[in-house]
Amino acid sequence: MKHLLKLLDLSKEEIIDILNLADQLKYENKNGIEHHILKGKTLGMIFQKSSTRTRVSFETGMYQLGGQALFLSNRDLQIGRGEPVQDTARVLSRYIDGIMIRTFAQKEVEDLANYGSIPIINGLTDFCHPCQVLADLMTIREYKGRFDGLKMCYIGDGNNMANSLIVGGLKVGMSVSIACPDGYRPDPEVLEFTKQYGDKFFMTDKPIEAAAGADVLFTDVWTSMGEEAETEKRKLAFAGYQINDEIMAAANEGAIVQHCLPAHREEEITEKVFEAHANEIFDEAENRLHAQKAVMVKVMADK
Ligand code: CP
Ligand code: NVA
Repeated sequence: MKHLLKLLDLSKEEIIDILNLADQLKYENKNGIEHHILKGKTLGMIFQKSSTRTRVSFETGMYQLGGQALFLSNRDLQIGRGEPVQDTARVLSRYIDGIMIRTFAQKEVEDLANYGSIPIINGLTDFCHPCQVLADLMTIREYKGRFDGLKMCYIGDGNNMANSLIVGGLKVGMSVSIACPDGYRPDPEVLEFTKQYGDKFFMTDKPIEAAAGADVLFTDVWTSMGEEAETEKRKLAFAGYQINDEIMAAANEGAIVQHCLPAHREEEITEKVFEAHANEIFDEAENRLHAQKAVMVKVMADK
């Protein structure tokens, strides 16, 4: 694996390989076993949007792997003043060993990979959030012990999270249902991808239908970063697209709840459901660290 640009690029085996390594690194981390697999390496982290989890987990993860991470905000980089990403890619390739980028257009991430000569990791674009969903899959396997036969449900905006969850969930063998309002459906490329999975993928505009018999329930904010001007319009469009008691009652007994965070209580999820499932949600947040360490090892070790 050369880069992590989107889950559509990965095979089931590559995903499972990352999850297995993430489990191993988590075990070693919990037991004080050092693993300086990336000793002497530097990861540049370009952020064109805000972040709590992604920034801190990549930076800490790189340190735990024996390397260092550089936080590169677009407010400080020349990218913010218009230097093309193609040039930034070629310059940074001369200094460092890998780049994690969080930005708007997926094309920018693909351009970095095409023009640079070092591994590129997608830390979120408008199209997808592969690092998050690898951590989500890791968490689901920890709680449920398997993927086969499980039903994953996503309620809300057909955004970057929805796109990656659909692809990741189907690839590892779960069935996936999604409830989203008309006009807020997942990306056409992702919907095209689902066609090969037949009735393992189900899309509706009724949350209760999507939640029926689900083992894992996901949601995400109604308004993603960069869409703030649409906040009021979205509040109307997404009213009712919420994980609440009624949705939990429709899901399977023992269903877990996941949220990539940050969460907006009483919008996409009630305070009550959030707090009842807080352990699962914060385990998911913790697993960002372990899953991303696995990704960095896969793309940056021995390079
Ligand atoms: N879930 C996630 O990516 O969180 P941050 O925006 O805080 O990085
Ligand atoms: N869909 C959200 C995810 C944040 C981690 C956003 O893009 O803002």
